Formats: sequence, C-alpha cells, structure tokens
Amino acid sequence: MKVPFLDLHAHHQPIREQLDAAIRDVIDSGAFAGGPFVAKFEQEFAAYCGAAHAVGVGNGTDALWFALLALGVGPNDEVITVPSTFMATAEAISFCGARPVFVDIDEATYNLNPALLEKAITPRTKAIVPVHLFGQCADMDPILEIAARNRLPVVEDACQAHGATYDGKKAGTMGAAGCFSFYPGKNLGALGEAGAVVTNQADLAANMQVLREHGQTRKYVHSHIGWNGRMDGIQAAALSVKLRQLDVCNLRRRSHALLYDQLLGETSEVILPAQASYGQSVYHIYAVRVKDRDQVLQSMAGKGISCGIHYPIPVHLQEAYRFLGRGRGSFPVAERCAGEFLSLPMFPELSREQIHAVAAELKLCLSAAKPQPACVR
Ligand SMILES: Cc1ncc(COP(=O)(O)O)c(C=O)c1O
Repeated sequence: MKVPFLDLHAHHQPIREQLDAAIRDVIDSGAFAGGPFVAKFEQEFAAYCGAAHAVGVGNGTDALWFALLALGVGPNDEVITVPSTFMATAEAISFCGARPVFVDIDEATYNLNPALLEKAITPRTKAIVPVHLFGQCADMDPILEIAARNRLPVVEDACQAHGATYDGKKAGTMGAAGCFSFYPGKNLGALGEAGAVVTNQADLAANMQVLREHGQTRKYVHSHIGWNGRMDGIQAAALSVKLRQLDVCNLRRRSHALLYDQLLGETSEVILPAQASYGQSVYHIYAVRVKDRDQVLQSMAGKGISCGIHYPIPVHLQEAYRFLGRGRGSFPVAERCAGEFLSLPMFPELSREQIHAVAAELKLCLSAAKPQPACVR
C-alpha cells in the first residue's frame, strides 16, 4: 500500500467549495493585501487561541522576526532557543542582528530543557524562544518562572503547535507573544504562505502592526524602518474556512498517534514520542526514533511509504551557523535525536488501514536491519 507523508488534496477536497467561495469573495472585494479578510481572521484566530490580539503577517519567519523586533531585540543581544528546530527560529533572531544561544533539549519531549536554561542567561540575553516542536508544548511553567526572575520576555515558537495545550492554556498564549506559521502543511495551513503573532499586550500588537506595514503609522508617514510583512487577503479568507475544522483535524491526529503508539508499543527498536502529562500534543509530526534511520527511511520509501526527517542537522551544526563555534558534541541530546528521528506519515485524513500498513512495514524494515544471532554449531 502506498502511503504519502502528507495529502493536501484529500485535506482540501471536502471544503473545496467553501475555499472557492472564500477566494471569490476576496477577488470581488479587491482586498488582496491586508484589509478586512485579514482583520476578520485575526479576530477569529485570537479568539481561538484565547489571546487578546492576533497580527497577521506573511509567514512564520516574519512572525518570529516582528515579535522579537517589537520587543526591542537588536544588535549585540543574545536570544536563547534550541538547536532542534527549523532553521527559521534562529534566522529570525539573526535578522534582528542578535545572536542565537542554544540550550539542549529534553530527551522525552524534544523541547527546551528547563534545567539547562538558567546557565545560558548572560547580561546580553534579551529574550527566550522555546519551540513547541512536533505539536507538543515545551514545559512552559519552569521556563516562564526563570524568564520572569531574570526579567526576560518569552516568545513562543508555536509554528508547529496550533491548538496544542499546556495546563489547559493554548500554545502561543503563555509568553509575551506566540508565533505561528500557516505554511500549507501545518495543522492550520494556508493556500500559500502566511503567519501570525498572538499576544495579550496591546502595545506589542500595535508595534507589530507598524512593523509589518513598512513602519508606517499613517499612509506614507513612517515612524520606524519596517518591512512588507502583511498577510494576503486570499490566505486570510482561506484560513477562516480552515480554522473551523482545526479542532476536528487535531483530534484525528491525536487518534492516529494513539493507534501508532498501540501498534508500535511492543517494538523494542523504536522509541515512540512521549506525550507529556502537562498538556495535549497536536502531533504536527509523529516522529519515532530508530537506529539506522537513513536505511529504514530508504526501505520504507521502497515500499511506497513516505517518511520524513525533522530535522537531520541541528541548527548549531548548519554551515550557516558555524561562526557561533558550537561544534559537534555541544548539544548531545539534540545531536543524538537528529540522527535517529524518523517522521511517519501524519495528516488528519490518514486511514486506519494506512496506519496499520506503515506500522507493519516499519516493523519489517527494523527486523531486516537487526543483526541476526550467530548460528550455534
Ligand atoms: C518551528 C518552526 N519555526 C518557524 C517556522 C517558519 O515558518 P514559515 O515557513 O511560515 O516562515 C517553521 C515552519 O516550518 C517551523 O516549523
């Protein structure tokens, strides 16, 4: 059986008419860049998250960048984050002129290890950016406590965690700001690029509204040097349609994860993702850990099952960040996980049959890769 890693066609087909109608409305109105469709989605998304404000921007990288800029992060500052993330988290810090300072991850949740956080804080630290990787929140209480004690704002990278909860609170609403990507494959995905920042601080929201609009406070009056970071009207209208089904889709992902857990639970060669007791993951990615990962990935592909790797090279070992001087061995947990992560197909429309096929094939691949016991003569 062929199983894709992601099936956006299956995802959009049932709501195709609603999406077409939403796009038609935007074309009829002419409100393509910013405008009323963006304002409507901002209200809906803020309400969904339980935040006072949402600011729609061009993508998740913009969201992180604007949030950090609005908090005053700039040259010579340090911003703490994790090496186990998509490159964009560190890029946003660098594009403020600041330096990313990495803290290793917790081996159970794959998120920032709070026990290592305080040691990384220096007089130059300006913010902390925990990443809710794979759809599971980082352990926010100790992170927020350390941040508060050191008077540092926390910016949540919630780009993979739309609707995830921590102690009943939604991802993105616990720090000063929460940043979301609506890249098409995300749990809440646009029909192109889009992103948003949620915050409870009116002044921060206002700063970001100015930044995303070339720093202008009134038409052609620029108080700041900003950027073109607006959200498209068409993306906002599509997101309003898709937001209505986010909770159902997240529930399906959680039930798929449970089935994977059951089917693979007895397989000693696989480390399954752990669901932390403090919240609910929305399983943007269902990543297991296996030895001989690359060989397993290839064998699965040979059987028609598309898996992924998120991410094969931790950020501190990327060529682009070599100048930071954090070589191999600097963050052992992140490095070990990067060598073992294997993301199994995960999307709401995945069928039980497909999940059974993925699990069965993974077990076969692992037993084929296992060294056979020597013959006793
Ligand atoms: C953890 C994380 N941060 C930031 C981003 C950047 O979002 P975007 O691709 O919308 O710019 C992504 C997107 O993949 C992500 O997964």
